[in-house]
Amino acid sequence: MYELIRPLLFKLDPEQAHNLTFRMLTSTGGLPKTAAGTLFGPVTPKLATTVGRVKVAGPVGLAAGLDKNAEATAFWPSIGFGFVEVGTVTAKAQPGNPKPRLFRFPKHEAIVNRMGFNNEGASHMARRLRATRKTWNSPAAVGVNLGKSKVTPLEKAVEDYVESTRQLVEFADYLVINVSSPNTPGLRELQDEGALREIIQGVSEVATGVPIFVKLAPDLENEALDALVRVAQEENLEGLIATNTTIDHKGIADVGPGGLSGRPLAERSREVVDYLTQRIDKPVIAVGGISSVEDAMAMFERGASAIQIYSALIFQGPALIAAINKAVLKEMNRLGVNTFDEFRSAIRRKPIV
Ligand code: FNR
Repeated sequence: MYELIRPLLFKLDPEQAHNLTFRMLTSTGGLPKTAAGTLFGPVTPKLATTVGRVKVAGPVGLAAGLDKNAEATAFWPSIGFGFVEVGTVTAKAQPGNPKPRLFRFPKHEAIVNRMGFNNEGASHMARRLRATRKTWNSPAAVGVNLGKSKVTPLEKAVEDYVESTRQLVEFADYLVINVSSPNTPGLRELQDEGALREIIQGVSEVATGVPIFVKLAPDLENEALDALVRVAQEENLEGLIATNTTIDHKGIADVGPGGLSGRPLAERSREVVDYLTQRIDKPVIAVGGISSVEDAMAMFERGASAIQIYSALIFQGPALIAAINKAVLKEMNRLGVNTFDEFRSAIRRKPIV
C-alpha cells in the first residue's frame, strides 16, 4: 500500500506530506490500532524483550520526532513497532523554526531537518496520552522524549524539563532527556557533564521511578562520550539512546543548518553504539540510518538492546519494520533460541581489543 501512496506523497512538499499522512492516520478510525503487528506484523510474544526495566513488545521502535504531539500513538504498534517514542515535547507550546525546514534527499535516503521542536506543549500531550492510555491494550511501550522550550534560557533548563516531566510522567513507560537536537540554540551544550547531571537529578526527583534515558548526538568526541558514560552510571540512568541527527552534511545537502538523518548517518551511529556498548553496562538503544535488515542486525551485533527508525520509514514504508521483525524471528529459529535476549547474546560480536 505504501508503494502506491509514496509517489504521491513525494510529489508534495515534505512537511505537507507529513501533515497529510497524519490527517489520514488520525481521521480514518477504521485502521486497526494498538494490537501489535496486526497490519503488517508479525510482532509475536517471542519478540518481546526488556530494555532495562522497560518492557517492549518487540525490538524495533519508532524514533522521536515523527509523532511529536502523540497524535497517532496507538497506530504505530499495528505496523510492527514494539515501542513508540513520542515528542520531542517542550514545557511550552512553540511553533518551531520558519519554513522550509524539512528536506528530503531520496537518492541518499536522507533527510535534513531544522524543525526546532515545533509542538503543542506538554499539557496538550498530557491530554492526548490520558485519552490514549484509557483504551491502551498493547504490549508496546510508550516513551516520552523531552526537550527545552526555546524561550527558556539555558540556565533555567532544569525547571523546563522538570515541568514537562511533571505533566507527562504518569503516561510514560520511559522518559528521554533530549539534549542532542541541533535545532534549538545552545541545547547541545546541555550534554556537558555538569549541566546534564543537574537536569537528570531534577527530572529524577519528579519521575517517580520511571526509567530515564538520555539521547545523544553523533557529533560528540570520544572524551564527551566517556563523560556521558560516567554520568549514566553515576546518575542511575536506565540507558542511552544513540544517536540523534548529525550537523555534518558534507556532500549531501546544501540547504543551510539542520540535522542529517537516514542512510548516510548509519556508519557514524554504528561507531557511537559500538563505542558505548563496550564501555557501559546499561542498555543502548541504537538509532541512526537503520535502513535495512542488515543495518538492524549490525546494531544488534554491536550490543544494542533495541533499535529505532525514522527516516527509512519515510523512504520505504512500514514493510521495513515487518521485514526486520521477520528476519529476527528467522535468525532465532536458525540459532535455536527462544527469546530475543538469547538471540542478542548469540549474535553479539566480540569487541575488538
Ligand atoms: C528527528 N529526530 C528527532 N529526535 C528527537 O529526539 N526529537 C525530535 O523532535 C526529533 N525530530 C526529528 C524530526 C525529523 C524530521 C527527523 C528526520 C528526525 C531524530 C530521530 O529521532 C533520529 O534520532 C534520527 O533521525 C536518526 O534516525 P534515522 O532517521 O536515521 O532512522
